[in-house]
Amino acid sequence: SSVLRSVKTLAKPAGARGYSSESVPDRKVAVLGAAGGIGQPLALLMKLNPLVSRLALYDIANTPGVAADVGHINTRSEVAGYMGNDQLGQALEDSDVVIIPAGVPRKPGMTRDDLFNINAGIVKDLCSAIAKYCPNAIVNMISNPVNSTVPIAAEVFKKAGTYNEKKLFGVTTLDVVRAKTFYAGKANVNVAEVNVPVVGGHAGITILPLFSQATPKANLADEDIKALTKRTQDGGTEVVEAKAGKGSATLSMAYAGAIFADACLKGLNGVPDVVECSFVQSTVTELPFFASKLVLLSLLCGSYAGAIFADACLKGLNGVPDVVECSFVQSTVTELPFFASKVRLGKNGVEEVLGLGPLSDFEQEGLEKLKPELKASIEKGVKFANA
Ligand code: NAD
Ligand code: LMR
Repeated sequence: SSVLRSVKTLAKPAGARGYSSESVPDRKVAVLGAAGGIGQPLALLMKLNPLVSRLALYDIANTPGVAADVGHINTRSEVAGYMGNDQLGQALEDSDVVIIPAGVPRKPGMTRDDLFNINAGIVKDLCSAIAKYCPNAIVNMISNPVNSTVPIAAEVFKKAGTYNEKKLFGVTTLDVVRAKTFYAGKANVNVAEVNVPVVGGHAGITILPLFSQATPKANLADEDIKALTKRTQDGGTEVVEAKAGKGSATLSMAYAGAIFADACLKGLNGVPDVVECSFVQSTVTELPFFASKLVLLSLLCGSYAGAIFADACLKGLNGVPDVVECSFVQSTVTELPFFASKVRLGKNGVEEVLGLGPLSDFEQEGLEKLKPELKASIEKGVKFANA
């Protein structure tokens, strides 16, 4: 993995990491919730990443100790700790990437949605500060329930007038990490070579691993695929139960978070073909085109038109205000405005949301099943943010 490669290349100059240019751009990464179970190992892994030049560690408590500790590691980035709301602005200023693992984790018997009441408010406040202090930053949302916290973040940014759908990501990398590990074990292939897309959301059945697209190919029985799917969907619960009240996944999550942040940094730096799965604003579900009312603006009106519609288009082009017609256009007015799938990352964040590809009957069934739950979680987040 790139993180492990980073560890191995620590002693080399930053420019030696596959970049054509000698100098690696300065990049500031902020971790919000940096003193937590995920935050601490994630701070460590980001300190090991040579793409980071400044690392801001923010939490409501204990960050001076974490920052002092991590700051002694002899790698590129400068480290600073920030504690409490008064220092949040300073922590965020000039950030290129903000990673959010702030909030409470699950205990046995809880669903991720049970965390909503506490974490929704935490995420809302942190995102308000992001809108104020680093509105152009890429946001990596780890706090659960991701299916709702990402829509909350989007609404907060929309209200602040800073929303850029290309820069908001729900981190679902841990689902991919798990799917790869479990698949490699069952298929008896080298785990380092395994790729498995995981789409949908990040909770229970909304996590949909596409083992039919897994590589290297292995002819696993349907029963094995079902079991692997279930284990991936229940991976978080497996850890919560094993930790028996002492929290949820932290170390594997820090690893997954570091992989995803590294991909975002590479994309920002112009490295080509950086593709990771993530929960983003999306139109990849079944209704990528949808007829709805639209306000015609300059080039938006390049659709089929009869005489009336063409006239409306011409009016729009000519700058006539409030020209509204129904038309069938590419749209986000589908039932699932957010969806995890493969995303190509680039200088502006999301470069392209990749389609789902061919699904097996079992996966197609899983996709239909997950929609109502994912839709409800998204709507819950939107409603909370607008309350
Ligand atoms: P933790 O309790 O160990 O750490 C959370 C940290 O957040 C604490 O240090 C706490 O002080 C801090 N915090 C609380 N309110 C804050 C605020 N307003 N501003 C800044 N920091 C604040 O929990 P954890 O195990 O690190 O998990 C954190 C979150 O990540 C949980 O919601 C958990 O469910 C989620 N999680 C997500 C994934 C995923 O795949 N996306 C995986 C694992 C855990
Ligand atoms: C995970 O998948 O491990 C996280 O979402 C934490 C959890 O509550 O399961």
